[in-house]
Amino acid sequence: MAKKLFIKTYGCQMNVYDSARMVDVLQPLGYAPAESPEGADMVILNTCHIREKAAEKVYSELGRLRRLKNEKESAGDGRMTIAVAGCVAQAEGEEILARAPYVDMVFGPQTYHRLPEMVAQASRAGGAVLDVEFPVEAKFDHLPDHQGPQTTSAFLSIQEGCDRFCTFCVVPYTRGAEFSRDAASIEAEARKLVAAGTREITLLGQNVNAWHGQGTGGSEWRFGRLIRHLAEIDGLDRIRYTTSHPRDMDDELIAAHGAVDKLMPYLHLPVQSGSDRILAAMNRQHTADDYLRVVDKLRTARPDLALSSDFIVGFPGETDADFAATLGLINAVGFAGAYSFKYSARPGTPAATMEGQVSETVGNDRLASLQQLLGEHEAAFHHTKLRAEFPVLFEKKGRKPGQVTGRSPWMQAIVVEAPETLIGQVANCRIVEVGAHSLHGEVLTGDIRTEKACA
Ligand code: 5AD
Ligand code: SF4
Repeated sequence: MAKKLFIKTYGCQMNVYDSARMVDVLQPLGYAPAESPEGADMVILNTCHIREKAAEKVYSELGRLRRLKNEKESAGDGRMTIAVAGCVAQAEGEEILARAPYVDMVFGPQTYHRLPEMVAQASRAGGAVLDVEFPVEAKFDHLPDHQGPQTTSAFLSIQEGCDRFCTFCVVPYTRGAEFSRDAASIEAEARKLVAAGTREITLLGQNVNAWHGQGTGGSEWRFGRLIRHLAEIDGLDRIRYTTSHPRDMDDELIAAHGAVDKLMPYLHLPVQSGSDRILAAMNRQHTADDYLRVVDKLRTARPDLALSSDFIVGFPGETDADFAATLGLINAVGFAGAYSFKYSARPGTPAATMEGQVSETVGNDRLASLQQLLGEHEAAFHHTKLRAEFPVLFEKKGRKPGQVTGRSPWMQAIVVEAPETLIGQVANCRIVEVGAHSLHGEVLTGDIRTEKACA
C-alpha cells in the first residue's frame, strides 16, 4: 500500500512548485499525496521566511505534528517522518533541530532532489538529517519528470535566487545567488506540461526577469527571447511570469509584451515604495520616476496592460511625506491589484539594524490607508471590464452547480454558467456583472480557443 505523504506549503508560488516536485521525487519511493497530516507516514512543512509571522507559523505547526506523531506511534501504526523544508529550514537549520528534536529531516530549497538519500538516512535511526547546502550540482538536472496531476494552469520554475540584495529581504540568503536554467530544459518541461493538457504556464523566479541563459542554439539569451521561443509551442495558449524587478525590465522584454499575443497583459512588478529616499535605503537601485518610465514604456508596447505590485509600509526611517509619496505613485499608476505588508525586521538583513524603526501603531495606520486606496483602485479596474468581451481560460467547476470558473487575461476570476466541457478551454465571454471577488460572464458562442483581447 502506498505510504501517505502530506505537504503543507507556505509562502510564494516557488514553494508551491517545489512542493509539487517533492511529490515527484518521493513517488518512486512509494509515497502518494494525502489530504491531511493525520496518520501520514511523512509530513513536510515547506516553509517561508520572508516575514516574521510566516516563520513563526512553523513552530506552532510543529507542536501539532508532534502530537500526531506520538499518537501514530503509540497506536502501533508505524512511524511519522517529520520534515521541515524551504526557507526557514535554510535560515534556521540547526535551531529547528534544537527547538523541535522530534523533527527527522531539515532541508533547504536547493537540496530536495536528494530526498531519497535523506529518507534512507532518516530511517536508519540515529539522529536527524540536516541538508542546507547550496550544492554544486544543479537541482533541476536531478529532478524526475512531472508525475503530478495535470492542471490547466501550471507553474514552471526557470530562475532561482537573487543578486539584488534589497536591504529588507532574506531571499538572497535563503535562496542564494541568481541561477537560471537553460532554455532547452525549460522548453522540454513546458512541452511536457502542454502535452499533458496544460494551457497556461506561469514562469517563476525570485527575480524572473533577470533570467539569462543558454539559448537553444547555444548563444546567450535574455528573458524576452525566451518568452518568444516558448510562445511557439503549439497548444500553449497563455504565458505569464512572476516576480520581476523594475531594473531588469529591459527593452527586449518590453517589446515582447507588444509582440507576443500569448504573453498575458497583466504584470506583477513590485515597486515597494514611492519615495526616492526609502527606495535608496531599500537598495532598490531605481527611483519612483524610473518606475513610472518603465510603466509608460510597457503601456506603449501593450496598451491594455494592467499592473500589480508589492508594497512595504513602515520601512525604517519612513516619514509621513515618504508614505504620501507612495500613495502618490499608486494614484499615478493605477494598480489593478497589489500585495501590501508592514515592514518586518528579518535577522541578518541590513535594514533590521537601521535607525528609525517605525512603531507598530504608525505601521498599522499606514497599512490600513494604503490598503484602502489599493482596494479602490482594484475595484475601479474590475469595473472597467463591465460589458467587455475577452477570452477566458476555464480551469475548474464553480462553487454552485452548473458553474465553471476561469481567469481573464488580467487574472480576474470569471464565473459563467456553462457545461464542464469548457474546463481546459479558452472561450470568449462578455462580462455582465462585477462582484467583489469575481466577475460574472456569459460565454459568446462560436469563439472557443481564440486568444485576442478586445476589451
Ligand atoms: N518585511 C515586509 N515585507 C517584506 N517583503 C519582503 N521582505 C519583507 C520584509 N522584511 C515583501 C516585499 C516582497 C514580497 C514578496 O514580500 O514586498 O516583494
Ligand atoms: Fe528580495 Fe526581490 Fe529584492 Fe531580490 S529583488 S532581494 S527577492 S525583494
